Amino acid sequence: MIFENLNLTGKVALVTGAASGLGRATALKLAAEGARLWLVDLDAAGLAETVGLLGSAEVRSEAADLSDPAACQAAVAGAVEAFGRLDALCNVAGLIYLANTPEMPRERYERTIDVNLNAPFFLSQAAIPHLLETHGAIVNVASCASYIGEAYAAAYCASKWGLVGMTKALAMEFQKKAIRINAVAPGGMMTNIAANYVPPEGCDIDLLKRFSGMRGLVEVQDVADMIVLLASDAGRGFHGACLSIDAGITAG
Ligand SMILES: NC(=O)c1ccc[n+]([C@@H]2O[C@H](COP(=O)([O-])OP(=O)(O)OC[C@H]3O[C@@H](n4cnc5c(N)ncnc54)[C@H](O)[C@@H]3O)[C@@H](O)[C@H]2O)c1
Repeated sequence: MIFENLNLTGKVALVTGAASGLGRATALKLAAEGARLWLVDLDAAGLAETVGLLGSAEVRSEAADLSDPAACQAAVAGAVEAFGRLDALCNVAGLIYLANTPEMPRERYERTIDVNLNAPFFLSQAAIPHLLETHGAIVNVASCASYIGEAYAAAYCASKWGLVGMTKALAMEFQKKAIRINAVAPGGMMTNIAANYVPPEGCDIDLLKRFSGMRGLVEVQDVADMIVLLASDAGRGFHGACLSIDAGITAG
């Protein structure tokens, strides 16, 4: 653990991507700090597993495909209806398809943008009125691929660079209001995304080396802790930040 005693007792957090990896770790950390949770993911079985791991925490979960803007609106409405308030929106759900760009199917390009960029927008749009009432926070999960080009991942990079731009634009729009909007930018973590990482056929491995870094992977728990810090009142000094936790990949 990097951060403890963040005290989210009585607060309500909506976490997307909570069926596995970073979203699950974020849910567990939020619950350990006392938050009540509304968890959303495409993967119903994984969500049930996360709920099982949460033990006695107050939690509701909903399987939904967040590539649909209506599902994003419904997720926020569900959280507010269930708990009467919303204090934190953690946009963790994401996906990556690696491809030689000339061969990238349009459907995969569009789904990448829908899940990684459009869903955080529509979730934020629905959540902001509630977060203004509670002086709450949005935390977006960007990537080291928000700052450097990752070969064979043009759609992913576009979505994650866009997410940083959106984070900063929203932070400016709400500069004078009591809401905080930030992002984290992790390097490689050992989650399903990393486990299923399949370089495209015939790719140049040299081009991928740049992205593997020199210090190995980042701990999922460290990134989850940072998300929860930003979601909590202890993160009050952060607004419009995108914090790199990437073991130096973007250092130079
Ligand atoms: N693992 C890494 O190396 C790494 C590095 C940088 C950034 N990230 C980012 O971290 C975030 C979490 O990813 P992870 O590493 O935990 O991988 P993961 O695959 O374990 O988790 C991603 C979750 O998003 C969910 N999801 C995907 N599409 C969805 C949709 N349409 N609707 C609802 N849920 C959907 C998946 O079901 C899954 O549970 C992602 O935004 C990812 O881009 C990951």
